[in-house]
Formats: sequence, C-alpha cells, structure tokens
Amino acid sequence: MPGSSSGTLLVVVQGAVGGQLAAPYYTEKGLTMGCKVCRYLGWIANPKTRQADPCPECGGRAAPGMPMHEDTILYPTLRKYVRETSPESYLEIGTREGASLATVIVADTDRHIKRLAIVDPWGGDFGGSGRGNHLHIERLLADLKYTGEALFYDDYSRHVLKKVRGCFDLILVDGDHSAPGCLFDMTTSIEKLCVGGLMIIDDVTHPEHSYLMDVVEKFCLEHSDITMIYASTEYSGVAVLQKNKKVESVKNV
Ligand SMILES: C[S@@+](CC[C@H](N)C(=O)[O-])C[C@H]1O[C@@H](n2cnc3c(N)ncnc32)[C@H](O)[C@@H]1O
Repeated sequence: MPGSSSGTLLVVVQGAVGGQLAAPYYTEKGLTMGCKVCRYLGWIANPKTRQADPCPECGGRAAPGMPMHEDTILYPTLRKYVRETSPESYLEIGTREGASLATVIVADTDRHIKRLAIVDPWGGDFGGSGRGNHLHIERLLADLKYTGEALFYDDYSRHVLKKVRGCFDLILVDGDHSAPGCLFDMTTSIEKLCVGGLMIIDDVTHPEHSYLMDVVEKFCLEHSDITMIYASTEYSGVAVLQKNKKVESVKNV
C-alpha cells in the first residue's frame, strides 16, 4: 500500500574523477555522477557476463541488478520527452533499481515534477532485482534531492494500479512484460494519463518480449484518442503514445 518517501540516507559524491558529469550511478560510497567513461548509470566491462567490473576512469560500479551502461533506447527516450514536455507528474510501473526513475528526475532540471507514483512488487519477476522493498528508491530520491510527493505501491500492478489516484503527464510501462500483463497496464494507466500526456512502453522489440509491439499497435488501433508519436526498434525497443482530446462525432447539417 502507498507510503511516502523519507530522508536522505546516502551521501552524494559530486563529480567523478576526471569525468564530465552526466546521469547518476552508484559507487561503494553511494550515488555519484557519471564520468566520461561510464557516462550514464554505471559501467559494464564485459557485455557477455554483465559483471560490473569497476569503471577504469572513476572506479564506479553499478549496483546489483542495475543496468550498467546505457544499452537501451529507453533512457535517451525518457530524457528527450522529459526535456521537451516538462511533466509535473510521473507514474512508473516497474522501477527495479531506479535507473529509469533517476533518468527522469535528472532530466527534469527545472524541477517540474512534483508528484511520483511508483508501482513495483520488488521481487524477481521480469528482471526484478529482488530487494523486497522500496527503501533503495527512497534513498535514490533523497540523493537526487527530489522534494515532491512520492507514493509507493509495493505490489503487482494488477493488485494496485487501479488504486493509483489522479492523472499523470508521463507514464512508463516497464513492469509485467507478458502480453496480457502489459495490456492490463496500458489499459488501466491510460485512464490516468492527462490529455496531451505521454505513455512510454519499454522493451517492445526485446528478443524475449517482441510480441509487445503488436500488443501496443493493437491497443492504439482500439483507442481513437491515442496516437503513437514515436517508436524505435533500437535495443530493446520503445513506443511513445500520446493521449489526444477525443474527437466528438460531428452532426451533419
Ligand atoms: C525491466 S525491470 C524495470 C526496469 C526499470 N524501469 C529501469 O529502467 O531501470 C521490471 C520491473 O518490474 C517489476 N515488475 C514485475 N512484474 C510487475 C507487475 N506485475 N507490476 C509491477 N511491476 C512489476 C519487477 O519487480 C522489476 O523491478
């Protein structure tokens, strides 16, 4: 059930050695900023094993389960639309270690976002890191100096998504990657998307979930008030839907 965020627990270490600042990532000292080598949310030295060897530039290591470098189109897509649309509210379904959430918060440089809702059971499903609770995300938000509201729904979306109140300018669907699960998340959260708001669906052409693109396309065909404004097949696929004003039927005179 929802619980609100609390105080800072990790120390922010600004500026990796010799690097240009980018997005945050973790070191043994806590959250720090990306350097020019690991650049985004950490460093992966061996793409086959995905072992987090330390970044040779700054010595940083990714947290367990965290995407260790920017190997997915999701993050640049989130950054682009946050910068272009300045959302004030963000609903995220599927947060894991907070890489997508951190990307959104960091891209929101003028601090427009005042309301967050985060839905995740924190288990091991669909790439979950199995932490069992959201405390690491409270720490992350505190490290990022996020001061708005953060409501946590620590359960599967099918149990809690309908309880999420209000409308959101930006929604990320990145939790249940089964076809019915993703369809449920889109159908339920589209009701919570503000007019003009964006819903981003991740992994739509991921090798293990490539059926999701069909699910998204069918969903758009069935919703006359939804337009797909962007899609990419770059690893691991992303689709961006926008909610338009419903066109009322026009009477012939
Ligand atoms: C692919 S990861 C999300 C990655 C994250 N968005 C990022 O970019 O760092 C999927 C997450 O969805 C969560 N999850 C799995 N099934 C879910 C469900 N039915 N409802 C909500 N979250 C779910 C998992 O616990 C996991 O943390």
